[in-house]
Amino acid sequence: KFRIVEHLQGVDSPEAYVMRVTRRRVEVEATSEAGLYYGMQTLLQMVDAEGRIPCGVIKDEPRFDYRGMMLDVSRHFYDVDFVKKQIDAMAAYKLNHLHLHLTDAAGWRIEIERYPRLTELAAWRTHHLWKDWWNGERRYVESDDPDSHGGYYTQADIREIVDYAQQKYITVIPEIEMPSHSEEVLAVYPELSCSHESYKDSDFCIGNEQTFEFLENVLSEVIALFPSEYIHIGGDEASKQSWKVCPQCQARMQQENLSTVDELQSYLIHRIETYLNTHGRQLIGWDEILDGGLAPRAIVMSWRGTQGGIYAAERGNDVVMTPMTLCYFNFYQTESREGEGLHIGGHIPFEKVYAWDPYAGFSEAAREHLIGVQCNLWTEYIKDMATIEVMLLPRLAAMAEAQWSTDRRDESTIRAKMETMRRFYEACGWQCAPYYFDGRK
Ligand code: ACM
Repeated sequence: KFRIVEHLQGVDSPEAYVMRVTRRRVEVEATSEAGLYYGMQTLLQMVDAEGRIPCGVIKDEPRFDYRGMMLDVSRHFYDVDFVKKQIDAMAAYKLNHLHLHLTDAAGWRIEIERYPRLTELAAWRTHHLWKDWWNGERRYVESDDPDSHGGYYTQADIREIVDYAQQKYITVIPEIEMPSHSEEVLAVYPELSCSHESYKDSDFCIGNEQTFEFLENVLSEVIALFPSEYIHIGGDEASKQSWKVCPQCQARMQQENLSTVDELQSYLIHRIETYLNTHGRQLIGWDEILDGGLAPRAIVMSWRGTQGGIYAAERGNDVVMTPMTLCYFNFYQTESREGEGLHIGGHIPFEKVYAWDPYAGFSEAAREHLIGVQCNLWTEYIKDMATIEVMLLPRLAAMAEAQWSTDRRDESTIRAKMETMRRFYEACGWQCAPYYFDGRK
């Protein structure tokens, strides 16, 4: 029996649930539908090999409000059904935010009605495999070219993904990259770059008012499609080189009294934050948004380590921790890398994720600004669905423990649970990596 109640004793979160299993019945209570849904996920995963459920009482609530996963759909494009299947896996583990990396050099992936060239040309490239394209001439091709590779989500596709996720209590956060990782935009709208030439720059020209007009127009369509309070604006890895010699950027710096190019980036982030706030949304960005001065309400996604996140939280900004050495699920799962295929360097075995304490290094005061934890799957080397699943599972189980559970981490407990999980993956039709189960680290 599933029932919504006014209050639950001993738990605070609106996502909490209490489950009682006796010989005769299963009863789940929660103060929200999401809570009931999470109770159901737990129940489904408790069934043992003989189809039994242990009797007992579970009081359960999340450690963090924000439990995220990022999927890069630019480096390789995946269709709507594929995204839905990953949403199912996230939902099973009670994740509640799917961050879609929708724009990058490798392809623009969302229909923007006002700027059709983004999806007529910037969404299509000469090679299917990112590596072949990146090591070649990095050209875009017209969508109707018989040799084009890529794709994009129409606005109807986006609505379908957002609705599907919502039914599973998952918010989809769109990421629109700025001011860098924007080669594809600048190839089709070169007037927005410092050189005004296609295939030259990766950073938008911040001196040019047209850049703001473009970004705000794009964001207005994005806001209309995504109900998410958080809108991700990227912000990472800008080269900033062209700004140093661009007369328009230099004029902007003089006019605004900015002495460094870091401050010029910060000027853009502040303006975009104001735009988003005016439309009732919050800006979230990679931790480079700290450089040159952090925007007042911005949420920092700390990937270059933990220092950026800790610093921002000390200052009073909310942060999501996603340090590369623990949360980049595109890293290898074993030391030997044998049989893993080609991935981006680094080694993140299941055990490392499981042992992680996201609060490590946070002062008491800063802890309250740590709103959540996220794993990221960058797809430069991941061209197909099977590989995505194998990179996610079973590490997503370890991540979910860091995101949801306050239990003491105990290797023998998780090992027993993971045997049940393996059967669960099979029942759901999800592939998983063998390494944790066969002992290879
Ligand atoms: C990132 O990995 N550049 C956020």
